[in-house]
Amino acid sequence: MSQPPEHQLREPRQRKRGLENDGGLAVRAAAARALVPVITGKGSLTGLDDHQVVARDRALFKALCYGVCRTLPRLEALAAKLLVKPLKVRDADVQALLLLGIYQLLYLRIPAHAAVGETAGAARLLGKEWATRVLNGCLRRLQREAAGLQDEVDQDPAIALLHPKWLLKMLQQAWPDDWRAICDANNMPGPMTLRVNRRHGDREAYLDRLAAAGIQARLCLHAPDGVTLETPCDVQLLPGFANGDVSVQDEAAQLTSVLLGPTLAPRPGARVLDACCAPGGKTGHLLELFDIEVHAVDSDAERLARVEDALGRLGLAARLAHGDATARDWWDGAPYDAILLDAPCTGSGVIRRHPDIKRLRRPSDIPVAGPGRQLLPEIDSHDGFFYARLKKRLG
Ligand SMILES: C[S@@+](CC[C@H](N)C(=O)[O-])C[C@H]1O[C@@H](n2cnc3c(N)ncnc32)[C@H](O)[C@@H]1O
Repeated sequence: MSQPPEHQLREPRQRKRGLENDGGLAVRAAAARALVPVITGKGSLTGLDDHQVVARDRALFKALCYGVCRTLPRLEALAAKLLVKPLKVRDADVQALLLLGIYQLLYLRIPAHAAVGETAGAARLLGKEWATRVLNGCLRRLQREAAGLQDEVDQDPAIALLHPKWLLKMLQQAWPDDWRAICDANNMPGPMTLRVNRRHGDREAYLDRLAAAGIQARLCLHAPDGVTLETPCDVQLLPGFANGDVSVQDEAAQLTSVLLGPTLAPRPGARVLDACCAPGGKTGHLLELFDIEVHAVDSDAERLARVEDALGRLGLAARLAHGDATARDWWDGAPYDAILLDAPCTGSGVIRRHPDIKRLRRPSDIPVAGPGRQLLPEIDSHDGFFYARLKKRLG
């Protein structure tokens, strides 16, 4: 069965002996705390930035949190085999540490002694000294019996493919020929794709600016303003980011505004409604591409504030309204030339970016597949295959 690729992450180099334990323990304890809402099915991974983690350890922290969510069904199956009896619900943080330890041993290039010792030791920072022995015992057993235990749990295809059983079944029904490729794509971390602001320059010139900054990238296949980085990086390192020269946006998302080209390009001054606009990725792209008047509505005031920030950085403006798009109290009564409706959905198409969706969604959240209502896989430059299929489906 296919498994996600091994991460290239190592422990941060500058960690010195003496300091090593504290930093290593703290980042693992923070990751365990961040994972508790997800593994108990009560919350998502959003808000990772609110956790106190020193800058040097932030990449490791995020890789641990996302990696555990991505591989959760398999890690949990292995944990069940390693524990003599299941941990109590109130010890979900210890369970999270165990999953973190298994993840490091099987998927990361972290020396085994650090993966075991610092994960077990992190229990002390959670105030659960007793758990260090349990964790040590389980992780050491995994080291000895890794191959056999993995073979056992991988007998179940849902575990081997890292998806909940119900979701795997739905994917198999909706995509009888492609479900395995969809699962594999869901299990790969997504690339970082940028949208170059046409009003500030073209993407070929921006590729040169990236190269000058030592950032390797390539042009997207389908999105005419898109550039994909070889390795994700902090946005503050991107040339001209603060001036709005570039934004982070997946290639598939960039295609939305491009599809409106035939309608909007020949109609300067056209009135466009962006009915579910926050955080404003598509609002900004529409305004970069066309000389139009955008009325951007969202029912979530906090998210709407992010639209204002995003447009401010790009130096563009829209008429923003906080309101329910299904009501009319925000509408001035004049008709629109185009309406973009990016309504909330199950998120089943963005699992690789938000792997916690696999734990947080319920079968009842996803309507039974039928014409035009099937689960759609995320589309981007790695998935030209899906793009072609989607185009075929939409005609
Ligand atoms: C998929 S997101 C939109 C993403 C956005 N188009 C972009 O490209 O950045 C869906 C948005 O719909 C908003 N929303 C949900 N129900 C709404 C409603 N009844 N009226 C307006 N906005 C709504 C949510 O707050 C959320 O911000």
